[in-house]
Amino acid sequence: MTTKILFIGDIVNHLGITVVEKLLPKLHQELEMDLVIANAENVNNGRGITLKEADRLFEIGVNVLTGGNHTWDKEKIGLVFEKYPNTVLRPANYPEGASGKGYTLVPAKNGETIAVINTQGRLFMQAIDCPFQVTDRLLKEIQPITPLIVIDFHAEATAEKIAYAHAYDGKVSAVMGTHTHVPTADTCILPNGTAFQCDVGMTGAHDGVIGMELESVIQAFRIPTRMQMNSAQGDLRLNGVWIEIENQSGKALHIQRIERKVK
Ligand SMILES: [Fe+2]
Ligand SMILES: [Fe+2]
Repeated sequence: MTTKILFIGDIVNHLGITVVEKLLPKLHQELEMDLVIANAENVNNGRGITLKEADRLFEIGVNVLTGGNHTWDKEKIGLVFEKYPNTVLRPANYPEGASGKGYTLVPAKNGETIAVINTQGRLFMQAIDCPFQVTDRLLKEIQPITPLIVIDFHAEATAEKIAYAHAYDGKVSAVMGTHTHVPTADTCILPNGTAFQCDVGMTGAHDGVIGMELESVIQAFRIPTRMQMNSAQGDLRLNGVWIEIENQSGKALHIQRIERKVK
């Protein structure tokens, strides 16, 4: 018996949610899915998440939302954690005192218990707690409960992501990289059975720069005195990764990169 999971890369802006809404029914017809996980750190104008977006994403069939460095950008994030304490995550390795939680155990459609962990890298990012030490600690707690473990490792540097994935090869079912918004061509199952892709990519408008409107980003790079950026609007795509995991061992059997356009 196996568990099939779709992991959707960083959903950017409300347009990104619309992309998921349009494409998820077709993906359900095409692929079997027991659980849908999506990174949602950018759903509110590229920065953060509020109840409005969380409600909508759960309504359209996403089961667990992960986060990243933008999770706390909106003041009312507390309301999101309050309403969805077990299905909206933020990176587990933020220092004590940060709101929200970094891992959860959720039931999949097939009745299996799936652990989802969210961690964040430190290279070219905030100097938070060590993702390796925090993951080691969480796995001690989670491994006796279920072998079906998916990690969203939210990080900038490919080297850090590859090192992290190998560190947990055979200990978790999948390490899915997020944050750069650009999908990588390294989709694989590592030697000991962990599915891995350095970055899943983003979901939303692709005619700009990682989801933001082209001209405003070029201006922000030319004259870095202001960071006012608008949202991109066109070339709507969903980027994700589909994984099939063996229930008994927790090892990945298949992995497939998914890219779909809204026509
Ligand atoms: Fe992001
Ligand atoms: Fe990020």
